[in-house]
Amino acid sequence: MRVEITAAPLPETGVLVVPVGREGALSTAAAALDARSGGLLRRALAAAGGPPKHGELVELLLPAGLPQERILLLALGKPEGTRLLDLEEAGGALAQRLAALRVTRAHLASPVGLDLPEPPARVALALATGCRLRAWRFTKYQHERPDEPKGRVEELVLHLEEEAAEAARAALPGEAARVAGVLEARELVSEPANVLDPPTFAQACRRLERLGVEVEILDKDRLEALGMRALLAVAQGSAKPPFVVVMRWRGAARAKPLALVGKGVCFDTGGISIKPAQGMEEMKFDMAGAAAVVGTLHALAARKARADVVGVVGLVENMPSGTAQRPGDIVRAMSGKTIEVINTDAEGRLVLADVCWYTQDRFAPEAMIDLATLTGACIVALGHERAGLFASDERLAERLLAAGEATGELLWRLPLGKAYEQHIKSEVADFKNVGRAREAGATAGAVFIQQFTNGVPWAHLDIAGTAWTSRDLPLCAKGATGFGVRLLDRLVAEHHEEAGPVG
Ligand code: BES
Ligand code: MN
Ligand code: ZN
Repeated sequence: MRVEITAAPLPETGVLVVPVGREGALSTAAAALDARSGGLLRRALAAAGGPPKHGELVELLLPAGLPQERILLLALGKPEGTRLLDLEEAGGALAQRLAALRVTRAHLASPVGLDLPEPPARVALALATGCRLRAWRFTKYQHERPDEPKGRVEELVLHLEEEAAEAARAALPGEAARVAGVLEARELVSEPANVLDPPTFAQACRRLERLGVEVEILDKDRLEALGMRALLAVAQGSAKPPFVVVMRWRGAARAKPLALVGKGVCFDTGGISIKPAQGMEEMKFDMAGAAAVVGTLHALAARKARADVVGVVGLVENMPSGTAQRPGDIVRAMSGKTIEVINTDAEGRLVLADVCWYTQDRFAPEAMIDLATLTGACIVALGHERAGLFASDERLAERLLAAGEATGELLWRLPLGKAYEQHIKSEVADFKNVGRAREAGATAGAVFIQQFTNGVPWAHLDIAGTAWTSRDLPLCAKGATGFGVRLLDRLVAEHHEEAGPVG
């Protein structure tokens, strides 16, 4: 979806979206149209059965006394306060309505005159961003069906007063970069595993070089030389070789980078501890943590963030075969610690054990955050509403929780601690890769990974429940969500970035 910004007057044809406020308040643009039409807008709002609530739309088809074909009144403003996220969600509702009406191009009138806490440029951009995020769908494998005309908005023109238009033009690239990062993550997660296998994923990471990201691909020989035998044990059942990809965006010279680590299991059959057939197709999404890392680096580089962020993803496929690892196998991780593999389906933590160890060892990051579709237990605990947050560092936890609230990528903190470390003690090795049956499964995964963080400030986001949605959400159609990109971009902007874009 394209976004255009103009200070030109509103067009006399086509589809016009006109912001209105709470309790029937009219924006300056709405008031002008109302006057010109002899009070049509006020009457429409009254006839709609009471003033519309935030994000609701009132449609006027062929409005009498006005030249446009269609006017959509978009209500903005919540009684308890209107955040940028609320405006984005209103933009999402707009995208939905435009799609249902088969409208592909619309003009948005200025929100000037409404009592909103954000300046008009920010309001218009937030609406456009929400519209973009909600309008995206994964359609590349579908031919267009003549009986189903396009239900997707392709262009939104933002009309703003001269000064606001200038402000919006200045902020648009940053906004577009964030959206592009989210969509990049969604695309990667949506691709089936026959298309996006570890080698293809590694090559996809290379595309970040165009944005100025340093990309280094470690192949199987290198991983062997490094001693990443936990990761390699997962990969050994697959015909596809594993990769670790290191991506670094250096938009600022800082003593230590922020590190983001992603679980990139391109497909998770469970291995020899094989999963049931029912629903197994969903396990193409088991690389969503890695996709979120790539998407975040994309966003940061595209908006030239003044930050130093390194992203490291472990790319493997978890398959059952004659070369696959077996339950009972004992492997030595890169850290030197040994792991008894009780269940080959608890593979994500094996991958992250080595990738986290490698990341802290090589980069000594100021903090390390891993993202992983790690446990079904996290979905049992939190549903699809929030991702699980585990953190060894209070300040990092607080910052992540706040970034989640601001972006709508919500987190809920779950415990770590000595008592849970008992759960992963093995009789024959340093650790085993599962905890106790039906007990604190998400924490068992987290404390396992923690053993390989070497004490650096660390957080683990279990995104098993939030990386994919089976229902439409305010900012996301059914499917891959790109969860984590907006959250991490926000964290960087708030706490790891110097003011203003690079150069
Ligand atoms: N990728 C799965 C986690 C998962 C399961 C995500 C269901 C979304 C839906 C992970 O690799 C896995 O299989 N975890 C096991 C761990 C268990 C064997 C300790 C699980 O959650 O069942
Ligand atoms: Mn698994
Ligand atoms: Zn998995």
